[in-house]
Amino acid sequence: MTITGKRIVLAVTGSIAAYKAVELLRLLTRAGLEVRVIQTAASRKFIGEMSFQALSGHSVATELFDTSSQAVFNHIELATADLMIVAPATAGTIGKMAAGIADNLLLSTYLAMDGPVMVCPSMNNRMWNHAAVRENIETLSRRGVIVIEPGTGELACGATGAGRMAEPDQILKRIERLFGPGDLERVRVLVTAGGTREPIDAVRYITNRSSGRMGFALAEAAYERGADVTVIAANCDLARKDGIGYFDVETVPELETALRREFENCDVLLMAAAVSDYKVSDTRPTGKLERKEINDLQLIQTRDIVSSLQGNGNGKLKVGFSAEYGEDNRERARLKLEEKGLSMIIFNDISRDDIGFDSTRNEITIMIPGHEDIFVEKTSKRNCAERVLDQVVSLLH
Ligand code: C5P
Repeated sequence: MTITGKRIVLAVTGSIAAYKAVELLRLLTRAGLEVRVIQTAASRKFIGEMSFQALSGHSVATELFDTSSQAVFNHIELATADLMIVAPATAGTIGKMAAGIADNLLLSTYLAMDGPVMVCPSMNNRMWNHAAVRENIETLSRRGVIVIEPGTGELACGATGAGRMAEPDQILKRIERLFGPGDLERVRVLVTAGGTREPIDAVRYITNRSSGRMGFALAEAAYERGADVTVIAANCDLARKDGIGYFDVETVPELETALRREFENCDVLLMAAAVSDYKVSDTRPTGKLERKEINDLQLIQTRDIVSSLQGNGNGKLKVGFSAEYGEDNRERARLKLEEKGLSMIIFNDISRDDIGFDSTRNEITIMIPGHEDIFVEKTSKRNCAERVLDQVVSLLH
């Protein structure tokens, strides 16, 4: 696939990671892309215009209203590009993008863009985790902006955590995928996400801490790679993406019904939902149980849904997830791989606070029969999803 000739606007904001934008620009031009650079005033304090001008072969656009006679840029013209990439994107620019504020050339260009927009955030880990930034990122993502999650590690400010701008080679890969036929083109992917709720009475239920983030990350990654994606969402309070089909369910039986119906028409099942293993034997659909009645509650096992679906034999891939408490329980995942007739299982340790359930990050081991285990060190759920899909693609071939 060639991306040669695509017109890109690379917008650089004021972060120490501006130096990575120079490297990104080098990769983009080397890949044959036609790049115009916008720099905010703050970004020029980190890296001067000359570096970007030399590598792009064009002068750098900085002013919204340029009165000089040679002015060749304006936001409307820039916004006709095939893609706009904001890298690095500071918390301030992300916030203004989400709010629709257009007080500089970058922001005006963003609002005028018709084509896709990518943002590559870069900031201190506490800023990245601040509720305001999280909400702004969700808003942009919901509106179709492609967010390239920052990596985790040592940050320029001395702190350690999430906030390092994604590496330029990763960003280039995402651009290639955006313009090319994805490696999951025409593949029908079904994802289950979230945690089921089994009612006890009219007001109480049994559930778990699954947020659905891993499943949603898988769905979004598969969609961007060209797949036809359907999500069965069990109690997921997360932003939805246009282009992906969602069915909301609450209980295990509801999830099972939706899954049996949709499974017929899928090529790959990614079973990321945390399905309750138990339900209450005599649910009280109306009213509230009294304290003494709760003592008499009986739990019965639910059916293991993924085991009961015909997988491998008919060419469908069944991918399971095994959330285990502690590294010592890793081998339980391998047993489930076999017992449930899965093509692949993803082990993750839920004893840690920093990864897994209800977190934006994960650390996973991908297990495939007859293959060496693949360990994915702590990273965003989106990056974990991409690694899982890499394996799905190679199994499909
Ligand atoms: O709960 P457990 O660790 O056994 O889950 C492993 C896999 O089996 C997961 O992919 C989960 O979605 C699936 N599962 C299921 N039906 C259940 C319990 C789990 O399909 N009742």
